[in-house]
Amino acid sequence: MREWDSFNEIVKAKGMWITDSDGNNLLDGVASMWCNVWGHSKPELVNAIATQSKKLQHSSMFNLTNQPAEKLAESLVKISPGMHKVFYSDNGSSAMEIAFKLALQYWNNIGEGKKTKIAALENGYHGDTFGAMAVGYIPEFFGKFKKQLFTTIQTPVPNKYRIPKGYSYFDYQNFCIDKIEKQFSKDDKIAAFVMESGAQVAGGVNIFPKGFQRKISKLCKKYNVLLVLDEIATGFGRLGSMIQYTEEKSIPDIVAYGKMLTGGYLTMAATLTNKKIYDSFLGEFNDWKHLFHGHTFTGNPISAAVANENLKLYQKNNLIKKIQKTSKVFEKYYDKITEIKTVGDIRHKGMLMGIELVKDKKKKIPINPKKSINKIFFEAGKKHGIYLRTLGNVVMIVPPLAISEEELDLLLNKTIATIKSAQNQIV
Ligand SMILES: Cc1ncc(COP(=O)(O)O)c(C=O)c1O
Repeated sequence: MREWDSFNEIVKAKGMWITDSDGNNLLDGVASMWCNVWGHSKPELVNAIATQSKKLQHSSMFNLTNQPAEKLAESLVKISPGMHKVFYSDNGSSAMEIAFKLALQYWNNIGEGKKTKIAALENGYHGDTFGAMAVGYIPEFFGKFKKQLFTTIQTPVPNKYRIPKGYSYFDYQNFCIDKIEKQFSKDDKIAAFVMESGAQVAGGVNIFPKGFQRKISKLCKKYNVLLVLDEIATGFGRLGSMIQYTEEKSIPDIVAYGKMLTGGYLTMAATLTNKKIYDSFLGEFNDWKHLFHGHTFTGNPISAAVANENLKLYQKNNLIKKIQKTSKVFEKYYDKITEIKTVGDIRHKGMLMGIELVKDKKKKIPINPKKSINKIFFEAGKKHGIYLRTLGNVVMIVPPLAISEEELDLLLNKTIATIKSAQNQIV
């Protein structure tokens, strides 16, 4: 942490720009941690917060409910095919913990308590809490806690750029699907399969090949395993669809949303389940079928009010269509980015791009892992007027979803300039 002894203090933000206390403006290439939808200070969202905060700031969801949270739940169920009910929390990691608990307790509730194992894709990420670390186990992040994490079954995932020797991309996809089927067929204790929907984001922007998620969804049905999808980073338009699992033609039993739910203004997440799961929790008091889980700020009315306004704006502005059009701007830059000396691979879908940096393009040798890439690129980005973050050796471009084509052009040009100016420091 020594290299981060001082931070730029952000004092205000408007549109796609954040401003620090020295008056420097930075183009927000991180969407303020992948959650900003409309840019900053969007009047409709600010007004929704102000209006609701004058009426009811917080009221517990223990024994009670509130109108904005009820309205939001109705809207979420409406836009999420197959889903029936909503369980609120205040961050994505908690939404995933709730998903795991719902999945495990479901089997218990219906008298199949032997189903206790969770399987997941390797290289996935579901948050930083203990359950989320166990399921989305990234060794570099969580290795120090390994002994304390519960055991999960991790199955391989295809990564087009780094396919094991002897396989084509297509063959390796089949290998991964076969592995999952073998696990399911030999182990009837598997309660749920967990994966990010559409792509692994924190795992370096690994976009799933067409049909991959659908095949997993089918296997889950065939072997009576619940499918838990994490749309916290990939839903709400990040990959170009409102609900990513519809594009992937997969049907989850449980799905989690977060980040962009409130337009990225306040903290809120939601775990949705289908009717089958929900009904299994219905019982008399003494049946003890209810879920013991609740957070203080669950269903906060101000968060829910801004989320309701956010959803209204998606419709009013036809945001998903706009994203699909704006997303094409990335394509114009494929060649320019690929030509850069240290760029090994670019992966792009919707409003997400990952640029993998390598030491040797031909041999795909990773860049020096001892270098503090994030710090180097953050500082270089600042000089070019952008807020940029890398994950490992992947430069992440994650703009606010409603960014204009002109601003995205600017962001991409600034990113290219940043990589070119910083790359010599990392090889
Ligand atoms: C796919 C995914 N799941 C879960 C989370 C955790 O969300 P939070 O940071 O709100 O706890 C993240 C955060 O980046 C994520 O990308």
